[in-house]
Parts: sequence; C-alpha cells; structure tokens
Amino acid sequence: MIGRLNHVAIAVKNLSAATAVYKNALGAVVTDPLPQPEHGVTVVFVNLPNTKIEFLEPLGEGSPIAKFLEKNPDGGIHHLCYEVDDIIAARDQLKEQGARVLGDGNPKIGAHGKPVLFLHPKDFCGTLTELEQV
Ligand code: CO
Repeated sequence: MIGRLNHVAIAVKNLSAATAVYKNALGAVVTDPLPQPEHGVTVVFVNLPNTKIEFLEPLGEGSPIAKFLEKNPDGGIHHLCYEVDDIIAARDQLKEQGARVLGDGNPKIGAHGKPVLFLHPKDFCGTLTELEQV
C-alpha cells in the first residue's frame, strides 16, 4: 500500500526566516508562499531530488498548527506524507486494522490538489501521518 515519501512538513512561526535558512545555508530551491485559507496555513515548498519539504505557517484564527507551535516554539516536524494509489482502499484497509482516520474520515483536497487523509499520530509511532493519492 505505502508508496513514496511525498513530503515532510515542518511547522514554523515565520516562513521567511525558515525559507531563508534553506535557501541560503542549504542552497535549496524554494517556492513563493502559497496561502491556503481553507487549511489555515501558508505553505512554501522546498523541492528536493527525491522528495519535498513543506514549510507550514499558521494562517488566520484557529489554524490547525497553532497548538503545535505553542508546544514547539522553534518549529518542528509536523507530519509525514506517503503516497498511495487508491486512498479509499488504503483508508478502509487501515480502519480494518484499527487505525483512526482524523476528521470525518473522508479525503479532502490537499495542498497539491490531490485527495489526502490524516491518520492519528498515536497509531503511527507518535507521528501525524498523511496519505496522498497520486
Ligand atoms: Co502535508
């Protein structure tokens, strides 16, 4: 079921400071900030040869990453995203094995315009895990 690592998401308080580190210190190619009001975040993508890093900065009231940043004021790894061929089949298989799907359990359209789901961190080694259908 599990496919490629699509991205590692890092939550930060300040996108421009975070992207400057990756651009200047690491020489990475980074995109312009992309506000995603429906997800409560602004996103910058760092494209690497084998995967992506996504920086997430809170956007608006009640951002889903606000609490995380209260606990991790310097920022930190927020979630991992794995690719799957069929997100509904993957979800149903995981639910059968007792994994908890967050939200209403139905895929939403994620940052790349593809269906995504989030799985409870307690069921996946303490790590919020996203599945993206590619
Ligand atoms: Co993600």
